[in-house]
Amino acid sequence: MKKIIINGGRKLRGDISVSGMKNAALPIVFATILSGDECILENLPDVTDVALSLKILEDMGATVRTTGRNAVAVDTSRIGGDVSDSPLVGRLRASTYLLGALLGRFGEALVGFSGGCDFGVRPIDQHIKGFQALGAEVRIENGCNHAFCPHGGLHGGSVYLDIASVGATINVMLAAVTAAGKTTIDNAAREPHIVDLANFLNMCGARISGAGTSFIKITGVEKLHGCSYTIIPDMIEAGTYMVAAAATGGRVTVRGVIPKHMETVTAKLQEMGAGIDEKDDAITVSRSSRLTRANIKTYFYPGFPTDMHPQFGALLATAEGTSIITEGVFDNRFRYVDELAKMNADIKVEGRTATVIGRERLTGAPVKAVDLRAGAALIIAGLAAEGTTEISGVETIERGYDDIVGKLRGLGADIRMIECENEPEKETPDKAG
Ligand code: EPZ
Repeated sequence: MKKIIINGGRKLRGDISVSGMKNAALPIVFATILSGDECILENLPDVTDVALSLKILEDMGATVRTTGRNAVAVDTSRIGGDVSDSPLVGRLRASTYLLGALLGRFGEALVGFSGGCDFGVRPIDQHIKGFQALGAEVRIENGCNHAFCPHGGLHGGSVYLDIASVGATINVMLAAVTAAGKTTIDNAAREPHIVDLANFLNMCGARISGAGTSFIKITGVEKLHGCSYTIIPDMIEAGTYMVAAAATGGRVTVRGVIPKHMETVTAKLQEMGAGIDEKDDAITVSRSSRLTRANIKTYFYPGFPTDMHPQFGALLATAEGTSIITEGVFDNRFRYVDELAKMNADIKVEGRTATVIGRERLTGAPVKAVDLRAGAALIIAGLAAEGTTEISGVETIERGYDDIVGKLRGLGADIRMIECENEPEKETPDKAG
């Protein structure tokens, strides 16, 4: 088992480059199924969820070969439509996208239940509602989702999503690009990774317009083909390092970002008293005096991103004053609070709202990463805390952060990853070498 050990109190200083966006890479990897051809994907983050998604494609008969640093060629010309027996599917939420991609390619899909971070119930009723509007049905059979078209192939349809669900918007897009006729998705998710997926699909010959707005139009085409595509930078990874810089009182420049994607995060840091200097593709965050309280209300994009909620929970825990965090997307995204409490954070949760009473300093402790962004929050808390923090559940963090230990060491953090079998402590070298 691996652990991350942090000796807190150091100010982060320097530059880091952001990797490709996990939540854009995952739908695009599965969307290669629709091309039935070879696609070159560049700027893929080196994170386990992306590695898993590529392994699932290989298990289905695709060929995947590395073509450079963070780049692969994926050929899905010879894949099958049944992934009911893949044990990997249950390890990530994004495997839900196999339903839309296989429906769009073959008109049928047999996919095991997906996994992902535990925030309470994570249904797919909106995905199913969208598939039904296109002439498909989804049944649960032998512990799998079986999607099929009872009356001939998929046809265009009008979909109104009750919730601006990222996953449902993605899945309906994947099924609709080769459906006969026109499809509209109303109340669609507007996240940057929806736009990235639409751009990828259009490069493959699809006809999608309106991605990034809440009304997406798709005209079905006979067939798609391969393409070369570069994934957008990860706004949540960037935001995580920006918050870490503010938490430690340092000065960090995050490079390779799209500042527009970071607007809500940048504005909130400024509101709390952090210094922000924005360039075309870089943001510098600095902090010289104690941050002040702020309220956070997470919501669908362009609202404050729910995936930045735990990181700000760690930051507000040492800001001056009392802050309120309201989680507007998931039933329960507060599992990180119990772990922060072990570091002396004063956070009380009531339903979807948390009251954070800022303390001068947190204190290091042994804690566990209970989900991906909770793990990021614990790293941020450990960097700013007095003493040593030991984080277990590191595999959860590696699902979505590319070499976070190496990148933080490059900013001067006293942080390392250790293997914890019954051998004496043995450090794992950073990828950065
Ligand atoms: C994606 O999850 C991301 N995961 C999440 O990131 C992110 O937090 C979330 O979008 C919101 O931005 C990936 O991209 C792999 P939703 P997803 O469908 O698609 C409810 C991370 O840390 N809902 O937009 O599952 C749902 O329960 C991860 O990188 C339904 O009720 O999110 C939730 O309350 C964590 N029925 C809300 O909508 C449905 O059919 C938003 O879910 C679908 C969703």
